[in-house]
Amino acid sequence: MKKKLVVLTGAGISAESGLATFRDSGGLWEGHRVEDVATPEAWQRDPAQVLEFYNQRRKKALDVKPNRGHEVLKELEHDFDVTIIAQNVDDLHERAGSSHVLHLHGSLFESRSTLDETLVYKIPGWELKLGDVCERGSQLRPNIVWFGEMVPMIEVAARIAADADIFLVVGTSLVVYPAAGLIHYVRREVPKFVVDPNLPDVGSIPYTTMIAEKAGIGMEFVKQKLAEFI
Ligand code: APR
Repeated sequence: MKKKLVVLTGAGISAESGLATFRDSGGLWEGHRVEDVATPEAWQRDPAQVLEFYNQRRKKALDVKPNRGHEVLKELEHDFDVTIIAQNVDDLHERAGSSHVLHLHGSLFESRSTLDETLVYKIPGWELKLGDVCERGSQLRPNIVWFGEMVPMIEVAARIAADADIFLVVGTSLVVYPAAGLIHYVRREVPKFVVDPNLPDVGSIPYTTMIAEKAGIGMEFVKQKLAEFI
């Protein structure tokens, strides 16, 4: 049976595709303060601005391609049972061909009802507008977990992390909870790898290999290392 490889990814995995990370550019995300675009308060105050911000992110995401980091994760399915816990809302893991991707923070390509959060829809193309409504007539919002909101999939993700035979963290600053806490669910003896040019602080977790490289190069290195666990 293939070993379970669980991978927590963040903005850094898509950086080499040309998508901006959150915290690498002076605290601004594509020129915006996060509170102005990615909070329930921002939505209350100015939904048009929030929709436009995500429309631009969606347009950009449609315009870029998966990079070597995404591709290696797909290739690892040949020898491992791979589950990706993605913090990113882009779809580059899916476009690279990865089979099991859990989107912890939602998806850029889905909308949901502001009346009933179980009503979720695919967004055709790149634009979600004021006046686009759910089947019950309420405005649609991006199906994205904003700051200050619950993370509905966190318990599922924690169970997946607890079940890992190998755990890999790629391109995340590990400052946003609860995602950042997932590594603490991984069993002690499980080999862990962290790939990030600016290594996050994971404290004193045993059996952890830190790889200070960008996702593309770093993942090639991890792939070689993982050969000994097949
Ligand atoms: N390859 C790998 N990692 C990279 C690269 C690269 N080419 N370039 C930058 N990084 C790393 C940075 O060093 C940093 O540690 O990616 C990480 C990006 O960190 P953040 O911008 O904080 O993004 P992330 O950790 O994904 O944020 C978590 O916070 O804003 C919320 O919901 C949003 O999902 C997001 C969450």
